[in-house]
Amino acid sequence: MLNIGLIGAGRIAHVHAQSLHKVAGAKLVAVADVIYDRALEFANKYGVEASGIDALLENKEIDGVIICSPTYAHADQVLKAAAARKHIFCEKAIAVELREADQMIAAAKRAGVIFMVGHVLRFMPEYLTARELIESGTIGKPLTIYTARFTNLGGGSWQGWFLDPKRGLAVLDVYIHDLDYITWILGKGKTVVSKGWRGPTGAWVHISSTIEYPDGQWASAEGGCAVPPCFPFTMFLRVICEEGALVFNFEGTSYASPREKKLILYKKGKRLPEYPAVSTEDPYEAQMRYFVECVRKGQEPQRGRAEDARTALEIALAARRSLELGEAVELSL
Ligand SMILES: NC(=O)c1ccc[n+]([C@@H]2O[C@H](COP(=O)([O-])OP(=O)(O)OC[C@H]3O[C@@H](n4cnc5c(N)ncnc54)[C@H](O)[C@@H]3O)[C@@H](O)[C@H]2O)c1
Repeated sequence: MLNIGLIGAGRIAHVHAQSLHKVAGAKLVAVADVIYDRALEFANKYGVEASGIDALLENKEIDGVIICSPTYAHADQVLKAAAARKHIFCEKAIAVELREADQMIAAAKRAGVIFMVGHVLRFMPEYLTARELIESGTIGKPLTIYTARFTNLGGGSWQGWFLDPKRGLAVLDVYIHDLDYITWILGKGKTVVSKGWRGPTGAWVHISSTIEYPDGQWASAEGGCAVPPCFPFTMFLRVICEEGALVFNFEGTSYASPREKKLILYKKGKRLPEYPAVSTEDPYEAQMRYFVECVRKGQEPQRGRAEDARTALEIALAARRSLELGEAVELSL
């Protein structure tokens, strides 16, 4: 049985605690938060121990950690967790700077621990099925991808870190999910150009980016975290291929478990639309099961790879640079 500790008892932490509970072979044993009372409340809810952050990381009984602190705190905690030889599941975005991501990846490698980042679209059934259909060649080569992700940030974040331009990545932390998915399908691309606007705190709250590829393909990713409170949480994916297209649209309330969702396949020569069979597995549970499996088998994750999370961060930061400069920015090869 793997003993898991969790750091940062905010919104996404509940999703992971509930998911881990359904995964055989691992159990949540402790939780820590910068505010001890938050850890205590969380600990009482899930019947685990409340701990200080350093104490949790030094606890020899703990085999792995789930890091759910604000993104700017990930680097420091991943470095400490690796030094303490804990396996690590860290929420996205991997970090706020590439230099940090490099240090985190190197530290995990040195320590020989599993390091996985929570890019959950790689476990979301519709996104998985869409990729399988593209990879199988069923609808030909992908020509262009459009993604969208809008959230009204209901409830806000701890001390407003998310929209604090000195600490959070703001909208980049939202649409980075789609950047990671796009690179899973098309690769990194050669340039990115963005339009967007800042909110009252000075943080970028809306972004629309186009990534260009060497052979003429392109992807557009739009993200917003300043939509009105009544605006539904939205995820949208459209992939147009040489012999068909795929469309997925979700509008609802819960980020964790979208219910009304439909992936539509349009294929040349077939009656339209076709709905491909899509698994109903909860993506957060599947993600946690995969992490535990990787730890148990001592296998590097193929989904949620830290290097891929670094690529998504690289594109996000280049997209922000494009907003600041008002021109296209080259991505490193
Ligand atoms: N994959 C997803 O679907 C998803 C969804 C939401 C958030 N996230 C990511 O999860 C992380 C947390 O986001 P959230 O929305 O749960 O945040 P939140 O603001 O709801 O909660 C953050 C929690 O961390 C605590 N905290 C603050 N600084 C800390 C520190 N240095 N060490 C330990 N705890 C600290 C706060 O007290 C709070 O309890 C972010 O990286 C975010 O991007 C991922």
